[in-house]
Amino acid sequence: MKHDIDRQAARASGAEHRQGLEMEGLRLELGGRMILSDISIALPGHGICCLIGPSGAGKSSLLRCINRLYEGWRGDIRLAGISVRDHEAAAIRRNIGLIGQKPAVFPCSIRDNVTFGLPRRQRRRIDEQALRQALEQAALWGEVRNRLHEPADQLSLGQQQRLCLARALILKPSMLLLDEPTSALDPRSRDIIEHSLSALAGSMPLLWVTHDLEQVRRIAGRIMFVCDGRLIEEGEARAFFSRPARLESREFLRWSVCNCPEPS
Ligand SMILES: Nc1ncnc2c1ncn2[C@@H]1O[C@H](COP(=O)(O)OP(=O)(O)OP(=O)(O)O)[C@@H](O)[C@H]1O
Ligand SMILES: [Mg+2]
Repeated sequence: MKHDIDRQAARASGAEHRQGLEMEGLRLELGGRMILSDISIALPGHGICCLIGPSGAGKSSLLRCINRLYEGWRGDIRLAGISVRDHEAAAIRRNIGLIGQKPAVFPCSIRDNVTFGLPRRQRRRIDEQALRQALEQAALWGEVRNRLHEPADQLSLGQQQRLCLARALILKPSMLLLDEPTSALDPRSRDIIEHSLSALAGSMPLLWVTHDLEQVRRIAGRIMFVCDGRLIEEGEARAFFSRPARLESREFLRWSVCNCPEPS
């Protein structure tokens, strides 16, 4: 179900040529250990790049560097040509939404959950159209339109994950980071989220961590394969699956393990 329509929409809007995410020599050390070493990459201004690699490879850490949840890294990270260090961390986190594995729903209404990240005065006077649009983009509007004032924790897990997506989208982000966003969900909820995120990828870059290689085949335009904090291979998803360039990639595709040599 790869979404050609979204690619066409991207082409029509000119998003295809827009500058996306660039990393240059990204290095991260935590607790005296090198977690990410010298990662350089340039992603286009739209589309889904799946970030794959074994457990402990550094995938979540990489996402946290991009939206500045981790601060102590070296190198440079730019979005649309602007370094993420040139703005306050809070502004970067609004502009680069991060959706995790488990939905973080607050003990308040569905509506208040969606508007949570907006400045207080904007929250009270929120344009109903913006609220609706965010929920529609997250494919949740139809299910919650008549219960916006009900507690959000009454929603199913799949609905809660889409609620978190709506909360990120109402802030009009330039990019989304997704850390195994469907791994805790049933197949139907997973499909709904894959579909709505694929549509969003027509106009912004998505960096999506997943362990599910079948999912990667369905959604990815590009691949980043990391192991032991290093970028092993990066490129077009179809080519990665049909002709992986590196031995480590071939082994990973076959066995889901990576026997890359220990960093010196
Ligand atoms: N705050 C921290 N302090 C020290 N080490 C950390 C910290 N956070 C993560 N690590 C280490 O960094 C390495 C990479 O962790 P990370 O969570 O990024 O891996 P991952 O690729 O997301 O793994 P998984 O697929 O299991 O989620 C691991 O060895 C982990 O133990
Ligand atoms: Mg992780």
